[in-house]
Amino acid sequence: MKIAVMPGDGIGKEVTAEAVKVLRAVVGGGALELVEAPIGGAGVEAAGDPLPDETLAIARRADAILFGAAGVPGDENLPYAQRPGASLLRLRKALTLFANFRPAFLFPELIGASSLKPEIIEGLDLLILRELAGDLYFGEPRGIFVTASGEREGVNTMRYTESEIERIAHVAFGAARERRRKLCSVDKANVLETMLLWRQVMTRVGTEYPDVELTHVFVDAAAMMLMRAPKQFDVMVTGNVFGDILSDAAAMLTGSIGMLPSASLGPGNKGLYEPVHGSAPDIAGRNIANPLAAILSVAMMMRHSFAAPDAAERIHRAVRAVLADGLRTADIQQPGTRLVGTAEMGDAVVAALHAAAA
Ligand code: IPM
Ligand code: MG
Repeated sequence: MKIAVMPGDGIGKEVTAEAVKVLRAVVGGGALELVEAPIGGAGVEAAGDPLPDETLAIARRADAILFGAAGVPGDENLPYAQRPGASLLRLRKALTLFANFRPAFLFPELIGASSLKPEIIEGLDLLILRELAGDLYFGEPRGIFVTASGEREGVNTMRYTESEIERIAHVAFGAARERRRKLCSVDKANVLETMLLWRQVMTRVGTEYPDVELTHVFVDAAAMMLMRAPKQFDVMVTGNVFGDILSDAAAMLTGSIGMLPSASLGPGNKGLYEPVHGSAPDIAGRNIANPLAAILSVAMMMRHSFAAPDAAERIHRAVRAVLADGLRTADIQQPGTRLVGTAEMGDAVVAALHAAAA
């Protein structure tokens, strides 16, 4: 297994270190080849570019990428190409990672950590599938321009081609088939032509999957339904921008964004695996970040890039065992639990893996 390790910035470094410990614990030493590469602010420091050529080359050669977080304070004031936070977007685009799996799964041990009532979220297990290579994020033209009357105007362009919608649709129906066969497509077809096309293509592709129940919901209503009755959803498929927003909202159903892993896949088995959270500069370097999203991203890597669902299951069980033992990082702390730091949480998961194997 050739894995590129890109810790990036802020808490990305801390949580990735714990994820690597878990990776080494589940995969026998000999089978693992880890290559570390700088990205984001770390890329700027190392090579003057948030996505150095060498980092991209390492990513291209790897079977999978373990990514932490990219972004530094004040990021948004830099031009796009020099912006640490944009390195991730460039990497996703360069590798055609168009399908972003963001499962929101509630560990029963964390039912009290969510801000929602227990009965609303008990048994929650949904998947947000976010299109990752198009939409407002990449549409041209983009920029801040000066109009004829001399005032500045910000421009971004929402666009999706039919084939882009088709390829994410097939991934979505395929994912629903492996779950409870319910797919909810989220759009804004009542206002946006791009999204009208989205709905038309989803509907057409749906005729090839008569065993999957397809519904369509506008994004504003979807946000409300996610908070009111999230268990009605199995797989939700949506565009890049709506998926970005809805997946953060879904994270809170599980107790903390520190619990949410993700996989970004392209046409082949290569994938990029990262926690949904960002670099969190406000808590970086203090050993308080929750490494479980990064650790659960390793589980997704095992499943999607290396066809090793058993290894993924072992990681899940180890995380559950640690939570059942009462260990909690600050973001998921509750009365009666034991507060631990980032490294202690990672070590506990590794110990649980070894204990299960013994
Ligand atoms: C995410 C993040 C990124 C995004 C940022 C860091 C560019 O919020 O992965 O959800 O918007 O895609
Ligand atoms: Mg986001």
